Amino acid sequence: MKPILFALVLLAAGSSVSTAGADERFPPITNKTVLQECGDCHMAFQPQFLPKRSWVKMMAGLSDHFGEDASLDVAQVKEIEAYLTANAADVSRFREGRKMLRRVDSKWTPLRISELPRFRHEHDDRDVKRMLDRLKVKTMAACQACHRGATQGYFDDD
Ligand code: HEC
Ligand code: HEC
Repeated sequence: MKPILFALVLLAAGSSVSTAGADERFPPITNKTVLQECGDCHMAFQPQFLPKRSWVKMMAGLSDHFGEDASLDVAQVKEIEAYLTANAADVSRFREGRKMLRRVDSKWTPLRISELPRFRHEHDDRDVKRMLDRLKVKTMAACQACHRGATQGYFDDD
């Protein structure tokens, strides 16, 4: 959504969601293989949400990926892992990504964005609970159910 339109929508809704600058937009994924193969069962999550070690661990365990078989061939795994790790929260210079790592101990390798302390903090909110009920969202992994601009990197437009 264009910033001006976004501001108008917020005014109309009487919402208190902060109008984030363009620098808070998570960079949309540009790799086609990632979009295709990691966007099949859920949206393809932006790599800036997890540290490098998380993506390495996840890509090494695709045959049992949260109870699903998400196996890929070796070339695809290599390409996807290269993209995810090059843009990981602790590699990318993107500021919002760095913030996701707050209170994440370096000895911990989280596999879920939704278990990060910052994520939990941002979603421990009455609005989130209301949205869960109203939209009948079954899992916090369904980001785009609440954040309609999620695949485009917008998480402040609900
Ligand atoms: C065969 C289906 C399938 C494919 C393909 C798949 N996933 Fe998943 N993924 C899942 C399921 C199921 C979950 C758990 C969702 C839930 O808890 O609601 C999940 C969860 C995740 C989560 C954690 C979400 C959270 O709770 O924060 C991440 C990160 C993730 N997947 C990344 C990937 C990546 C990277 C790829 C591509 C290599 C991929 N997924 C491909 C099925 C899939
Ligand atoms: C049930 C609805 C719901 C789901 C599912 C959900 N969110 Fe959110 N999210 C919210 C709400 C509501 C806020 C608070 C918006 C505000 O007031 O700033 C929020 C805030 C955020 C923020 C902070 C935005 C800011 O203001 O800078 C980020 C980042 C975010 N969500 C990412 C995600 C990701 C990634 C997922 C999926 C793994 C996800 N969310 C799933 C409802 C949801």
